[in-house]
Amino acid sequence: MSVSPVGTLTSRPDRALGTTKYELSRGVVAFPSVGDQVLIPTPEQVEAIVGGKDSDKRVRIGASPMASNASIVVDPDKLFGRHLAVLGNTGSGKSCTVAGLIRWSMDAARKAIRDEGKIGVPNARFIVLDPNGEYATAFADQGDKLRLFRVPPVVGVERPLDVPAWLWSGHEWTAVAHAQPGAQRPLLMQGLRELKSGQMEGVPREATIRRYLVSYSTRISALLSTGTQTFAGGPRPRFDCAHLLEAIAHDCAQFAEEVEHPTSDQLLAIDRQTTEVINARRSKGNPKFFDDFMITDLEEVRRSLDALARTLPDLGSAAPIGEDAPIFFDVNMLAEHLNRVATEQGGNVAGFISTLGLRIRGMLADPRLGAVIGRDPPTTFGTWLKDYVGDNGSSNGQLAVVDLSLVPSEVVHIVVSVLARLIFESLQRYRRSHPTGQTLPTVLILEEAHTFVRRGRDDDGPAENPSHLCRETFERIAREGRKFGLGLVLSSQRPSELSPTVLAQCNTFILHRIVNDADQNLVARLVPDNVGGLLRELPSLPSRQAILLGWATPIPMLVEIEELPYEHRPRSADPDFWDVWTLAEERTVDWSAIAKNWSGES
Ligand SMILES: Nc1ncnc2c1ncn2[C@@H]1O[C@H](COP(=O)(O)OP(=O)(O)OP(=O)(O)O)[C@@H](O)[C@H]1O
Ligand SMILES: [Mg+2]
Repeated sequence: MSVSPVGTLTSRPDRALGTTKYELSRGVVAFPSVGDQVLIPTPEQVEAIVGGKDSDKRVRIGASPMASNASIVVDPDKLFGRHLAVLGNTGSGKSCTVAGLIRWSMDAARKAIRDEGKIGVPNARFIVLDPNGEYATAFADQGDKLRLFRVPPVVGVERPLDVPAWLWSGHEWTAVAHAQPGAQRPLLMQGLRELKSGQMEGVPREATIRRYLVSYSTRISALLSTGTQTFAGGPRPRFDCAHLLEAIAHDCAQFAEEVEHPTSDQLLAIDRQTTEVINARRSKGNPKFFDDFMITDLEEVRRSLDALARTLPDLGSAAPIGEDAPIFFDVNMLAEHLNRVATEQGGNVAGFISTLGLRIRGMLADPRLGAVIGRDPPTTFGTWLKDYVGDNGSSNGQLAVVDLSLVPSEVVHIVVSVLARLIFESLQRYRRSHPTGQTLPTVLILEEAHTFVRRGRDDDGPAENPSHLCRETFERIAREGRKFGLGLVLSSQRPSELSPTVLAQCNTFILHRIVNDADQNLVARLVPDNVGGLLRELPSLPSRQAILLGWATPIPMLVEIEELPYEHRPRSADPDFWDVWTLAEERTVDWSAIAKNWSGES
């Protein structure tokens, strides 16, 4: 016989009732010695062993098949407070368990509010990042209290998914743009800072215009100085000079509408002057490059730009804005603006800017993605936080489901990473702004976690790619989330592919069936030795049965998870081949409609 000590059952007589109360505590103070009696527990003792402390009995999640179906009731503070990992093979019941935990927690909270004689809804926040789009149906009964975000176009209670590019941090932009350290990254950061500060309230429009004028003047100077090389027999400059002049004319006309007299008149004068320069040359052919223009004309334009710039206030004196600040700017302007910054600074970044420009334009032009990252008109940041993290008192519902199923795969990591970071930082700011430093308890659920918090590998490519970024964000939440009230729930079929840092921070595990060797070994390493025996059951667990272990339970135990009725299950039932084959189930298909929707024709 072998013995695995897991806990201590203490008894305390309850004099008022004339009974004995039992309580199980974690750990063992006095070890049994040879010759001690072995006792079979009474039903009350079993109840006390699997049921935990009275103070922990808050949410029933299932029953214990090994202990005459005694209820297994957990404390959400423990379950969500120190991160939970739900692991198991495909179809083993993870999503149902997660959906159940949300639902049963909310039901229990509502009941507790009623029992206390209070009125109101649970002040709870659950945010589900749902790559397979399974959770919407499971919570359809919540009606408009379910905040369901989907890639536009949306119907009914669905809301358009909105992860605006102006909310991305400098780090996130670096990953999207593949900006290299050296010249590219500082340039990108400077461009972001300038665009964001240009949009700040309190910064006069004139200051922004001044920036543009100075950068145009610098570009003309650059053209003029390369021009002299041509005369010395150097390479023929291929700058598109006509394009630059057109941009100057166009911008000055635009700026003129935004400012008062006399600046507006001076801007219009530059617009006229520049247009004349272009038209004068156009009458003699199709001007394009620097040497299609007169040097004196270019010098005149530069002089006008400089003269006006000197009369405008300098942006440099305005308060500095970091590249991470969540301030709106027009993302369409980024590539063009970087071009300006680059010509002022010199450096060989033209290739980077044109590929970045193409990438940004491509993303914004994509009918689905463009609507997600560049929504027009933009949402304000405050509204965004209310929508995604949940309004005061959870008045707009306790649950947000972010359906990621139609987010293009090349950007899904950045979208998840931005969402997770903003949720985490909003809770950090909440605690900082709270008079006594209280936190706002929030649960962030990540389905298919192995795709987003992947274990690092040597052949992962450059460190600055979106999947690294995503892992870093979740590693940070796993390490620090608890302090700010953010609990993480990870669901994954491939625990051996998950980041070890994130797994190591999970204090509670719900283990469904796991057949694969690598995954079993990994799980065995995560848990204390003395539950090894229980883990032998893992490959043969039926669906709905799972092993619960860790912080939320005094001892590891087998749970038969509560049954979820069909309409409350995440939609991922096994495909019904036979019924469809044999016409027992109707399944019509209209590919043209799908093709149209897919390609963005509505
Ligand atoms: N608690 C439950 N109540 C009712 N049915 C369940 C429960 N748990 C699992 N099932 C059944 O098992 C099926 C698969 O469960 P689920 O979709 O949760 O698996 P999964 O582990 O999330 O799979 P995947 O990794 O492929 O997402 C469900 O469609 C459902 O029929
Ligand atoms: Mg699932």
